[in-house]
Amino acid sequence: MSMLKRLPVYPVNTRVNSQGHLVIGECDAVELADEFGTPLYLFDELNLRAKCREFKEEFGKRYPNVLVIYASKAYANNALERIINEEGLGLDVVSEGELGIAESAKFPMEKVYFHGNNKSRRELELALKWHVGRIVVDNFYELEMLGKLAKELGIKQDILLRMTPGVDPHTHQYTSTGSLDSKFGFPLPLKDEAVARALKIRSLNVVGLHFHIGSLIYEIEPYVESVKFILKFAAEMRKKYSLELKELDTGGGFAVQYTIDKPAPPTAAFAEKITAIIIKECKRYRLELPKLIIEPGREIVAQSAVALYTIGVVKEIPGVRTYASVDGGMADNIRPALYGAKLEAVLANRMRARDAGKVTISGRFCESGDILIRDILMPKLVAGDILAVAGAGAYSLPEAMNYNAYCKPPVILVKKGKARLIRRRETLEDITRCDIM
Ligand SMILES: Cc1ncc(COP(=O)(O)O)c(C=O)c1O
Repeated sequence: MSMLKRLPVYPVNTRVNSQGHLVIGECDAVELADEFGTPLYLFDELNLRAKCREFKEEFGKRYPNVLVIYASKAYANNALERIINEEGLGLDVVSEGELGIAESAKFPMEKVYFHGNNKSRRELELALKWHVGRIVVDNFYELEMLGKLAKELGIKQDILLRMTPGVDPHTHQYTSTGSLDSKFGFPLPLKDEAVARALKIRSLNVVGLHFHIGSLIYEIEPYVESVKFILKFAAEMRKKYSLELKELDTGGGFAVQYTIDKPAPPTAAFAEKITAIIIKECKRYRLELPKLIIEPGREIVAQSAVALYTIGVVKEIPGVRTYASVDGGMADNIRPALYGAKLEAVLANRMRARDAGKVTISGRFCESGDILIRDILMPKLVAGDILAVAGAGAYSLPEAMNYNAYCKPPVILVKKGKARLIRRRETLEDITRCDIM
């Protein structure tokens, strides 16, 4: 497949210039690689903003009261969160660290939702003191601890309760979270008890229910099933305990198109089905339409970013395989090694070159599993070529590590021909900083 045919999985308006170089955000990717070095992660700012708007519009035009919150675990960064805030989204955080980044980015705390299946006392205390908008309570241990802490601090905290709807989203088991056998959320058989106990705690105000069934979900039906489950449950809880469902949070998990051969449903399709079933089921149970919260992470950032690598060793094993090694790999993007994620790549410096055969793109780290892409058609690769891997914005850098004492790569924002460094490359000093001599 010609490399030009792969461009639809790159940020919109990505193009090729007269030198045959890849151009993103009106910046020549080869010049960027030269200026900032590789590996390099670049985010296309306009693509990112367009994604935020698409979510707001597609859900907003179908439902009266929607808040889109960006799941910052997909990639948390100060500059990025300022943009997310400018676009009017809220934020989902899951740790003291993510809360800290939100605070440093001056994110309005009332629009922050605090998740997590094992929040510590210290984290809950911090969330209360910083007045986060909602704490999404995951289990009985947290419920009791939060109740006591809020009472001590004289705060009445708004909370949502995370339920496991018992629905299989047909995604990889590592990214599936909504089935009965999950570490996340109140267990199905104890869901009534969760509501009963939460309603008794005076320092907590139960404003709604939450579910999140997994990540990289290509089917819409699991969302529909989960909504049916949760609204039936809400109706039962209204009858039994007078629970008023003011907010319904249906999580994130929307798939993105990583490779040309595997398209994902458009945001509009998810929006259409999710909002329609909420409206229908609320009518059926005579429930007031709750405020709808959705929590996309991957879909907001994945396709906005591209990772640039330099090809080094090209090793041909006659009759077996050709390996082309890049200067990064599993330590900046563990997704292929961890759960077999598939990625697309092009040659940024020779976009019009013809494919010569299949090659396996391997990383530079000391693990045989450090393979970024298996058997991708490429022109004949040589040392110094610049490889541009698409869909690099979500769950790559946040899951990056210092294996082999690797210095994690820098991140830039590109827009209208200008590049801005938003995270510098780590140095040897960073690597040794925590060692005690
Ligand atoms: C509670 C919750 N909400 C939202 C998300 C975002 O998921 P995604 O990035 O797949 O949209 C996650 C990630 O797994 C999550 O755990």
